[in-house]
Amino acid sequence: MKDNVVKAGGLGKPGRTRYPGPITEARKHAHSLVEQGFASDEALARVLDRYPAELFDINLYDYDADGQVSLRTGARGKLSGDQLLEAIQAGRLWVNLRKAEQGCPALWAASMLEFDRIQAAYPGMKAVTNAGQLIISSPVARVPYHFDAAGVVLFHLRGRKRLYIYPGDEQHLPERNMEQVVARQTTEELPYARAFEGDAQVMDLEPGEALTWPLYAPHRVDNLDKFCVSLSMDFQTWSSRMRNGALYTNAVIRSRGGAPRFTDQMSRPELAARWAASLALRRFGGLKSRIAQFERDFEPAVGVADGAGALQP
Ligand SMILES: [Fe+2]
Repeated sequence: MKDNVVKAGGLGKPGRTRYPGPITEARKHAHSLVEQGFASDEALARVLDRYPAELFDINLYDYDADGQVSLRTGARGKLSGDQLLEAIQAGRLWVNLRKAEQGCPALWAASMLEFDRIQAAYPGMKAVTNAGQLIISSPVARVPYHFDAAGVVLFHLRGRKRLYIYPGDEQHLPERNMEQVVARQTTEELPYARAFEGDAQVMDLEPGEALTWPLYAPHRVDNLDKFCVSLSMDFQTWSSRMRNGALYTNAVIRSRGGAPRFTDQMSRPELAARWAASLALRRFGGLKSRIAQFERDFEPAVGVADGAGALQP
């Protein structure tokens, strides 16, 4: 398999990520989901037809000259699967179908078999939960700089994508921002600066390739002028679960005026204690989610600019 890693900015040296884990750098693996027929227009149109409307996220991203992003969001609308596919292929849309384990169970079952094989390549890695999103996006779509509070395997099915993966250190991934994301006080976008670009590990993904990277590593994605389809599978291990719990507890402590220590300075028993505290805090409403229900700005349409038409009553 072609492996076009651009080595940059201390790749592979200790310090690329603060968080220990079996995955130490971005790496590709082969998968057979394309050969199994999941990526054809017909298969995708069928999935779109059946997918529950409440599990659609439809985003339209705009970037300014400094790479700072603004977002418009779309409603599912009433297009058939075929038409929606056409709108995405001709437009500038990023469509995220959440809960793939429910929405496209056949693809999900095949993906889990692939995941088990990939996991076996990392001694000591044991996912305790897996979830996924099927991402169908326009040829020019770009996903802004963010991190996922989980491990990720990105199964690429159609088109070409360029992934930029950055070190998970305090400069690129401030713990205060991680706390805010884990406690759902904000969406997942992190502060981004053009100066980060020299630190990126850059990898191009072709259909039939899957990519993993270290837990929490910030990343962004550019589609390379082709309609793209990927299944993004995220997973929790006991370590990531405890880390997320500790980040949540720290968010609550900080919201009450405290100044908690960074989780990467905590021992495992300390992390476990903070995770246990997070379970109680979540149950008793430690922090209310501030992620508002977005007002929708458009709905997908065929034959209009960006594939974004007016909202229909
Ligand atoms: Fe991501």
